[in-house]
Amino acid sequence: MTAEELVKKARAAREFAYAPYSKFQVGAAVLCEDGSVFTGCNVENASYGGTVCAERTAAVKAVSFGYTRFEAVAIVGGPAAGELAACPPCGICRQFLSEFCGEDTPIYMGVSDTDYEEQTLGRLLPLAFHLD
Ligand code: THU
Repeated sequence: MTAEELVKKARAAREFAYAPYSKFQVGAAVLCEDGSVFTGCNVENASYGGTVCAERTAAVKAVSFGYTRFEAVAIVGGPAAGELAACPPCGICRQFLSEFCGEDTPIYMGVSDTDYEEQTLGRLLPLAFHLD
């Protein structure tokens, strides 16, 4: 699966974003070792703190189907009304993803289906906390 294809899946997942409070819609797609892809969107809650980010939605879906190693992650996010720009994952999501990614795992932040910024998780989260 190419980066463009993974970004496209994240963009499609963004269509399901439940973001009535922030009106900031995010989609994410996680590529697993055997080529399986799990997608997710942000799911907000009236209690605000109960909100789940798109990346964690996608990661939890993957892990709950037995996939605990991620090859790449794509994120597409931005205001419901307005232009898209590269949306970096929040700090909690960086830590959450580091459980299932390596330092070199590419993180694609999509602007459109074909235009994306590429980082690695290690660059986004240096000195990640791990118990081992
Ligand atoms: N959000 C994500 O889904 N992923 C991130 O990494 C950043 C923030 C969501 C959470 C909330 O629903 C909205 O964007 C505004 O913070």
